[in-house]
Amino acid sequence: MSTVQSRPTDVIHGKIYDYPVYYDIIFAADWKKEFQFLRDCFSEHATGQVRRVLEPACGTGRLLIKVAQAGYDVIGNDLNPQAVEFCNRRFRRRGLEPAAVVADMADFRLKRKVDAAFNLINSFRHLPSEQAAVAHLRCMARALRKGGIYLLGLHLTPVSRRICDDECYTARRGTVTVKSRLWTKSVDSRKRVEMVGMTLDVTTPAKQLKLVDEMPFRMYTARQFNRLLAEVPELELVETYDFDHDINCPIEVDGHSEDVVFVLKKT
Ligand SMILES: C[S@@+](CC[C@H](N)C(=O)[O-])C[C@H]1O[C@@H](n2cnc3c(N)ncnc32)[C@H](O)[C@@H]1O
Repeated sequence: MSTVQSRPTDVIHGKIYDYPVYYDIIFAADWKKEFQFLRDCFSEHATGQVRRVLEPACGTGRLLIKVAQAGYDVIGNDLNPQAVEFCNRRFRRRGLEPAAVVADMADFRLKRKVDAAFNLINSFRHLPSEQAAVAHLRCMARALRKGGIYLLGLHLTPVSRRICDDECYTARRGTVTVKSRLWTKSVDSRKRVEMVGMTLDVTTPAKQLKLVDEMPFRMYTARQFNRLLAEVPELELVETYDFDHDINCPIEVDGHSEDVVFVLKKT
């Protein structure tokens, strides 16, 4: 008869972004559709050829590395030094020049302009205020050459119902298994802040770990996002998609829309 030995779980309250290796196991698993969508948008919406690509808030570089390996010249920035280090190690391991730098996506300047940029999974909502959001869009407009595009993906707040998401995923890399849970803890509509709880349960042959975090995400209804865009007229809205990332299925955004990728073109 075998006995099941249960090991104690270390519980760490901290920033999940400070543990890029576990973040990456969950989020890097599913990259193919997003990657194909990026390439489709580059050819469908950018004027001229796309060679040089920026990802603001690139995190672990889960997508940036795929774009680089497809032959594009890439750069990324992120506020978190651990994520940037993880990303650059990933590039070096594959014989590529490190592509990421520590920088604030609302306060950066590039030496050379890019043909396209992308920011697909809500990082934009980490910007805590309207001023920071406008500053970010101005940085992006300055970073893009004329006719270049910025693909910006975020969850909008639908007018019809309160946000009440609870998402769980499990992914495995080698001997490490990570289970994630993401849920809305509270919503302050007046301050436009959704507080999101996140846990990662990590199992390795040597240990069990639970990372517990919560982070504020700024909220945007479709109307609030359109008002924001009007502040930066150098970025023209040319198309919208949902998180199915299907170039053949553009969508009409209205007050009920939730997951939207905005295609913004530098005029
Ligand atoms: C949800 S992760 C997304 C990472 C990556 N874009 C991806 O698709 O996996 C959000 C990232 O935004 C970064 N971030 C938050 N605020 C930022 C800021 N003001 N400037 C740059 N990066 C920021 C975090 O450090 C984190 O790596």
